[in-house]
Amino acid sequence: MDRHLFPLLSSFLLLLLAMKALRVHAETTEPNQRPYIVYMGEKPKELVGLPPIAHSELLKKATGLSKEEATKRLIYSYTKSFNGFAAMLSDEEARKLSGLEELVSVFPSKQRQLHTTRSWNFMGFPSTVPHGPFESDVIVGMIDTGIWPESKSFNDIGFGPPPSKWKGICQSNHNFTCNNKIIGARYYHLQGNISEQDIPSPRDNLGHGTHTSSTAVGRFVKNASLAGIADGTARGSVPFARIAVYKVCWSDGCSDVDLLAAFEDAIADGVDIISLSIGAGGTINYFDDSIAIGSFHAIKKNILTLSSAGNSGPDISSIENYAPWLLTVAASTIDRKIVARAKLGNGEEFQGMAINTNGLDGEMYPLIFGGNAPNISGGANSSISSFCGEGTLDKKLVKGKVVLCRGLSDGSGLLLAGAVGAIMQTNGANDDSFWFSLPVSVLQSNSTEQVQHYTNKTSNPTASISKSQGVFDATAPYVVSFSSRGPNPITPNILKPDLTAPGVGILAAWSPLSNPKVPYNIMSGTSMSCPHTTGAAAYVKSFNPTWSSAAIKSALITTVYVMSSTKNAEAEFAYGAGHINPLAALSPGLIYDAQEVDYIKMLCGEGYSTKNLKLVTGDQSSCTSTNNGTVFDLNYPTFALRAQQGKTFSASFQRTVTNVGVSNSTYKAIVNSPSSLKINVEPNVLAFEALLEKKSFSIKIEGDAPKITISAVLIWSDGTYNVRSPIVVYTI
Ligand SMILES: *[C@@H]1O[C@H](CO)[C@@H](O)[C@H](O)[C@H]1NC(C)=O
Ligand SMILES: *[C@@H]1O[C@H](CO)[C@@H](O)[C@H](O)[C@H]1NC(C)=O
Ligand SMILES: *[C@@H]1O[C@H](CO)[C@@H](O)[C@H](O)[C@H]1NC(C)=O
Ligand SMILES: *[C@@H]1O[C@H](CO)[C@@H](O)[C@H](O)[C@H]1NC(C)=O
Ligand SMILES: *[C@@H]1O[C@H](CO)[C@@H](O)[C@H](O)[C@H]1NC(C)=O
Ligand SMILES: *[C@@H]1O[C@H](CO)[C@@H](O)[C@H](O)[C@H]1NC(C)=O
Ligand SMILES: *[C@@H]1O[C@H](CO)[C@@H](O)[C@H](O)[C@H]1NC(C)=O
Ligand SMILES: *[C@@H]1O[C@H](CO)[C@@H](O)[C@H](O)[C@H]1NC(C)=O
Ligand SMILES: *[C@@H]1O[C@H](CO)[C@@H](O)[C@H](O)[C@H]1NC(C)=O
Repeated sequence: MDRHLFPLLSSFLLLLLAMKALRVHAETTEPNQRPYIVYMGEKPKELVGLPPIAHSELLKKATGLSKEEATKRLIYSYTKSFNGFAAMLSDEEARKLSGLEELVSVFPSKQRQLHTTRSWNFMGFPSTVPHGPFESDVIVGMIDTGIWPESKSFNDIGFGPPPSKWKGICQSNHNFTCNNKIIGARYYHLQGNISEQDIPSPRDNLGHGTHTSSTAVGRFVKNASLAGIADGTARGSVPFARIAVYKVCWSDGCSDVDLLAAFEDAIADGVDIISLSIGAGGTINYFDDSIAIGSFHAIKKNILTLSSAGNSGPDISSIENYAPWLLTVAASTIDRKIVARAKLGNGEEFQGMAINTNGLDGEMYPLIFGGNAPNISGGANSSISSFCGEGTLDKKLVKGKVVLCRGLSDGSGLLLAGAVGAIMQTNGANDDSFWFSLPVSVLQSNSTEQVQHYTNKTSNPTASISKSQGVFDATAPYVVSFSSRGPNPITPNILKPDLTAPGVGILAAWSPLSNPKVPYNIMSGTSMSCPHTTGAAAYVKSFNPTWSSAAIKSALITTVYVMSSTKNAEAEFAYGAGHINPLAALSPGLIYDAQEVDYIKMLCGEGYSTKNLKLVTGDQSSCTSTNNGTVFDLNYPTFALRAQQGKTFSASFQRTVTNVGVSNSTYKAIVNSPSSLKINVEPNVLAFEALLEKKSFSIKIEGDAPKITISAVLIWSDGTYNVRSPIVVYTI
């Protein structure tokens, strides 16, 4: 299982790098040891300073290692925000440890991978929106690849000193400096072993963290573009908010032990919001998942953690971050798409997808099919070279030509072989553009078939590829095919993803050390949609500094722009409640609040061990008769019910809403539902007389033999505020 950041950009390249790096590790560490995380729950109440010794003692006791060896094996001791440690262990040693009473879980550290301008305007959030009174007090923690501090997006002109609650530091290695915009920065790398292409400092050499940080809370930078493409003002939502950088992702990915160390610091440093566009494939239990563990301990400090859904869609249940205390973000399009045209000698033109900073300037070049240029001495044949992979093409035949490829590659093989451009085929939805190192147009197979036909039938076929440009896309927004889909694999009765945000063709700040070597770059991925939502959450926080993480999440979820299942058949499993509307999130009317204890009650009801939950909370209250609940009663702003195919179903959900609109207001329940569902809300009128007053209601959902997915909606409306919650019943 690989942990990864979530940009789509050359994910295959990152994968290759990750594989290389893992090999290095295997040669240089004991063959049977690997990093493990030992999670022990809530932070120790006393013993500040002692735990590293306590942790190696525990290791010694469980495994029989010498004291010296046990100390050597420790990588991190987590004590500031929760209790636990990371150590190099053999599987056998880990098994011995996992038998101990005093810990919650022991799991191998996985290597995770990295999962505009126009986008904020597109969602009705112009640069003229009012600023929250507490904007400069909001601190957003970015757990990512670091940051390029010299970018215009992070200048601190007009900023005062950091808010007094800030307790973090700035690790200034390698010429890295913080300012009053970037108020803190740290970096983490397992055992301090950093590969040559990486910089041992919070400085970003990959670009991803610079991009996500500026998307969330970057300053307004006029006339930003990628070589003139997508030009406009680059900006985040709250330009005066502060950034705290936690660099955990490197060219070989991001390891769980580092992620957890970053969470521990971010919580103790005093951030308000944590954003991470990182994930791992596969289904992981909450307490074997560094992101779920870290974000859980953030709740107590009212810190909301936002995470990307993942880029492994459109398969069902491909979602990668799904803990109920996270806000999980899918990716959708904006009304500008980045296209690259391919023109043939016969005048035919195709609108392909790709990001080309250069085109062939309208000049026609000879066109050759990769399948007709195999490097035979290199062991390739026609069917292999038709994909144009590195080393498969005959340089003599493709030099100076445009090459037709019946597959996708990053273009490096073509560039090495001397090609000037390429037409590539994708078998996917082609709803997204990548950056290539040479001019490329990506087409679907029906179009490459036409190009192939022309190439076959013409004695001197020619083609040209244009520089990319942004064109209006009237079909936006829809959730792109790569965005990971629900339902939630661990807690099927909690809807995931929660909502969607722009994640396609996003222009934002970049590290000039990464390709392309530019100050602003265009990227796609749920990595990009997550920081848009982080920015929206920071905006809400800047008006409501005391709101809990669940309150901010509820405000974002219940105020969305409604999406349509005609564009995304998976409906809520693609877009959750819908598309973020940051301005509307300021006025949710009612919120569905929740605290740590509510999540613990839900976990009790889901069968999580009482012993473990007591360790997680650090007290004895978990799973007593009053502190036990069911997943249906977690105060979540959406409703999901998994039913059995062909069977009748019936479930009651309890909810409590808090009035944050106007003091005297009366809300009526409006239910929109197909006739196959019977939905009853009790009571169906809620009359409030004060702000922050709470009212409870129940909602009973019944029916028989559901189809795969049935969508409905509950709206609490007082005539001004419409508090919208989707309802999904499904049988997947
Ligand atoms: C530090 O970085 C700044 C900004 O990139 C650069 O101008 C300066 O030359 C660097 N200094 C060193 C010693 O690398
Ligand atoms: C760190 O990695 C380098 C190669 O990148 C290797 O030579 C060295 O032995 C490694 N050190 C440790 C402690 O793993
Ligand atoms: C805007 O940016 C473009 C390309 O980066 C540059 O050519 C142009 O001079 C800039 N215009 C202004 C007004 O700064
Ligand atoms: C064919 O591949 C081999 C091995 O990758 C390479 O050395 C050689 O230059 C290639 N030949 C041509 C004509 O491209
Ligand atoms: C091309 O080579 C591959 C791998 O060596 C082989 O599986 C395939 O059958 C070959 N195709 C043809 C048409 O010879
Ligand atoms: C190819 O198919 C796609 C979707 O199936 C369609 O939108 C496009 O217009 C087709 N292109 C051509 C050249 O027929
Ligand atoms: C083009 O020619 C190849 C053989 O060189 C053949 O396999 C293919 O079907 C032809 N395609 C079209 C669209 O003409
Ligand atoms: C909590 O509730 C669940 C289901 O309602 C039940 O299975 C479990 O035994 C209860 N736990 C305790 C400690 O009462
Ligand atoms: C709200 O209603 C109560 C009772 O109906 C009344 O006493 C109070 O003055 C009202 N408050 C406001 C702000 O209108």
